[in-house]
Amino acid sequence: MDRAAGCPFDPPPELRSRQEEGPLTRVRLWDGSTPWLVTRYAEQRALLGDRRVSADVTRPGYPSPARISGGSSIGFILMDDPEHARLRRMVTAPFTVRRVEAMRPDVQKIVDDLIDELLAGPKPVDLVEAFALPVPSLVICRLLGVPYDDHEFFQDNSKVVIRRDATPEQRAAAVGRLAAYLDGLVGDKLAAPGDDLLSRLAERVKAGELSRQEAGQMGVLLLIAGHETTANMIALGTLALLEHPDQLDLLRSADDPQLIAGAVEELLRYLHITHNGRRRVALEDIEIAGQVIRAGEGLILANDIGNRDPAAFPDPDRLDLRREARHHVAFGFGVHQCLGQSLARMELQVVYGTLYRRIPTLRLAADLERIPFKHDGSVYGVHELPVTW
Ligand code: HEM
Repeated sequence: MDRAAGCPFDPPPELRSRQEEGPLTRVRLWDGSTPWLVTRYAEQRALLGDRRVSADVTRPGYPSPARISGGSSIGFILMDDPEHARLRRMVTAPFTVRRVEAMRPDVQKIVDDLIDELLAGPKPVDLVEAFALPVPSLVICRLLGVPYDDHEFFQDNSKVVIRRDATPEQRAAAVGRLAAYLDGLVGDKLAAPGDDLLSRLAERVKAGELSRQEAGQMGVLLLIAGHETTANMIALGTLALLEHPDQLDLLRSADDPQLIAGAVEELLRYLHITHNGRRRVALEDIEIAGQVIRAGEGLILANDIGNRDPAAFPDPDRLDLRREARHHVAFGFGVHQCLGQSLARMELQVVYGTLYRRIPTLRLAADLERIPFKHDGSVYGVHELPVTW
């Protein structure tokens, strides 16, 4: 199911009918398997917070979005505790609210400098290439200790990893190239540590707490998750605001950090870019909403329609920046809830709070019908966003 059939900001209409039918229905996947599709907010949170469900992609019954070949593992996102917790703990420090807030002035400078360049350059311009991708890429590069000069290499390979139509071989090859690249960087940090997260991981490798392969895999996960998601929220968020001028006006004239922070939550809820659902498999029989999910059965928690559940968000299809939306599931829920959420929130607050004020006449330079949407990826967004002012 993709969004091509309806409004580009809404989940597929079929998901809405499923949600009206009931919280859990069966769906048929590409391989003939029939996992449960969970469409209501309450049941999604209950199941994502339930220790009896597993995120381990190698377990039989796991509802894979596509054929996956061996060797394409990208870190702890697809593992269960205690392994997941052991690895996640090693990288949490830079993502705490306090550490993220300390980065805010740097992020503001990155955003201001990129807007200066935009204003000095030719127009129309592709906002994805010129702004949405560079902001989070520069930030995650600094945090990890990855040279930004290599951005074309890692952005191109990340795109292959998250493309739904990539073959397993193409995906494994892209993960392999990224893993080799990160492994090389870990090697450099072992020899000459710096003040960055890869150097902290290299120290753990030296201390025998972590294998070099694990360090490289975590680097791949953080590098991909750290730039692709936020970049799509910047570009798609801008498009959604341009299509909702009253909401854009509200944001542009707001001088209230609370309103900007609330707007970020609402856009995360409304757009929900990780649109392929959280994927899990039941470890035991689980009774929920009058159904029994049997051990070994797959679950797809469609958080995009969960964020549009009228029981959790009244009038859910309306973009309303003043809404209280922070309880959305755009960052997932439970033990795998997004590690980078404070960082993503801060980056988006800086971007949404700066871009439209500094370029108040920002507008689309093409018809909405001509904008290429990412129906082919596991992260939703736009491939290009031509804008002018
Ligand atoms: C708007 C931006 C972002 C969105 C919408 C987003 C969304 C998500 C979601 C839905 C999950 C849960 C996956 C699951 O349950 O299967 C997740 C996990 C994760 N995210 Fe994000 N993310 C964003 C930004 C970031 C950033 C900036 C980083 C920084 C490195 C990051 C790192 C991670 C990691 C490492 C995980 C795995 C956590 C675990 O398995 O314990 N994300 N993200």
